[in-house]
Amino acid sequence: MDSQLSLWFCSMSTAFCFVFFSFTLLFSLFSLLIFVLRLKLWCTCKICQAYLTSSWTKDFDNLCDWYTHLLKNSATGTIHIHVLGNIITAKPANVEHMLKTRFENYPKGKPFSTLLGDLLGRGIFNVDGDSWKFQRKMASLELGGVSVRTHAFDIVGSEIQSRLLPLLSSVAGKEQVLDLQDIFRRFSFDNICKFSFGLDPGCLELSLPVSDLAEAFDLASKFSAQRALASSSLIWKVKRLLNLGTEKQLKEAIKVVDEFAEEMIKQRREEGFSDRHDLLSRFMGTINDDKYLRDIVVSFLLAGRDTVASGLTSFFWLLSQHPEVESAIREEVERVMGSSEQFASFNQMREMHYLHAALYESLRLFPPVQFDSKFAQEDDILPDDTFVRKGTRVTYHPYAMGRMERIWGPDCLHYKPERWLQNGRYVPENLYKFPVFQAGKRVCLGKEIALVEMKCVVLAVVRRFNIRVPHSNQAPRFAAGLTATLRGGLPILVQEREA
Ligand code: HEM
Repeated sequence: MDSQLSLWFCSMSTAFCFVFFSFTLLFSLFSLLIFVLRLKLWCTCKICQAYLTSSWTKDFDNLCDWYTHLLKNSATGTIHIHVLGNIITAKPANVEHMLKTRFENYPKGKPFSTLLGDLLGRGIFNVDGDSWKFQRKMASLELGGVSVRTHAFDIVGSEIQSRLLPLLSSVAGKEQVLDLQDIFRRFSFDNICKFSFGLDPGCLELSLPVSDLAEAFDLASKFSAQRALASSSLIWKVKRLLNLGTEKQLKEAIKVVDEFAEEMIKQRREEGFSDRHDLLSRFMGTINDDKYLRDIVVSFLLAGRDTVASGLTSFFWLLSQHPEVESAIREEVERVMGSSEQFASFNQMREMHYLHAALYESLRLFPPVQFDSKFAQEDDILPDDTFVRKGTRVTYHPYAMGRMERIWGPDCLHYKPERWLQNGRYVPENLYKFPVFQAGKRVCLGKEIALVEMKCVVLAVVRRFNIRVPHSNQAPRFAAGLTATLRGGLPILVQEREA
């Protein structure tokens, strides 16, 4: 009987392997066919040739700069990279069409959710349809209240007072170069972990410790984003199946994130969560499924960490080139707060229109999320008459949009906070001209929190220190990833201002 059973198992597993490999082979042939079809187009398209041969790198440091150049020269403000099956647009009317008017036709789509699926699971960042609607509603309720904003304000204030300022002080006046990008990444990771999990990883302690969680999270985001660079998804899927190379590292990194999240959820269940303010505890009131809870909170980690760090890093780079903006911020702070040493309150911040404009202007030129893609569910025609075939990836490009003369005028490349002011007061722009926080139905849920966080940092640092960037005339070069990150970081020197 035993031998019959093992024979049966043996033949079943052989049959399974046969079906599996036949399926994989068919899938590979299909991918090859699509690739060949795209190559045929490439033969006649100069843009595709430049993309595939990387010849654009002779003239541009960053892919986003090359796309900006192409979009500027396109009569419609829209281009098509056939080899990638990707339409890219910098036209506000098209952006409004995708993000609002025909929102249902432009979901994130399966290709995107597969790339990030292992890390983000069913978290808000990675889903469409009912699951997204449910999480969006729940998260909007949680994030919309005054108490959660006060909570975020307290967290940021404490991280600035007890870590950021002492760290900058410790190197002030010395010839010690600090990487400001690394500092802001540590700062925002501490904040978003406290905010999301109620846990303090202490990444910004004076000794700048290595955090296993931060490191695992970095690797997991990096390797997930790298999947998008493969010419065919089959490559990383096979690597994942065989547990090879970066896919093996990705799996290990996700395991660390998973174990951490599991432990946090377990602790909350044991200790109780009703009197806690972090997001995890808030969501635990509505959701019992621990895997789902993990996914939701990990999405917040990704959404709120690198974006804020990226926005702050670019801001201080721009400030180092524009001392007149730094002086104007200081004048405004003095006018609103006098000589008070206190932390600025919400109301005081609201009065600082110039600071707000200076941040918006920095985000216009250096959006933390440089581009964002959706996948068309049905054939469609964009307002500029571009035909979109079902299944095509359509990308709007905030980085390029910030550099379009036809949107921002002939001085579009200049850093000019006054652009956002009328009679000294901040005046908002059309959201589809400036989709830095996305816009429409999926607009960023952490926008207000992010702005308050950034303002708190700028105020605290600019009032007390002079930050100097030794090579500030070098144009930024970005590393490939989900969020704009400066290659090589942002080396700075710090000086304490005279009282
Ligand atoms: C300067 C900082 C930030 C920028 C530029 C930014 C930008 C964005 C963008 C472009 C999206 C759309 C992404 C997509 O759909 O693919 C987004 C979504 C989102 N952001 Fe932010 N974000 C920032 C900070 C934050 C913070 C601090 C949080 C959390 C506290 C947050 C939470 C979210 C969430 C939950 C979503 C998903 C919304 C949805 O899909 O309905 N963001 N953000």
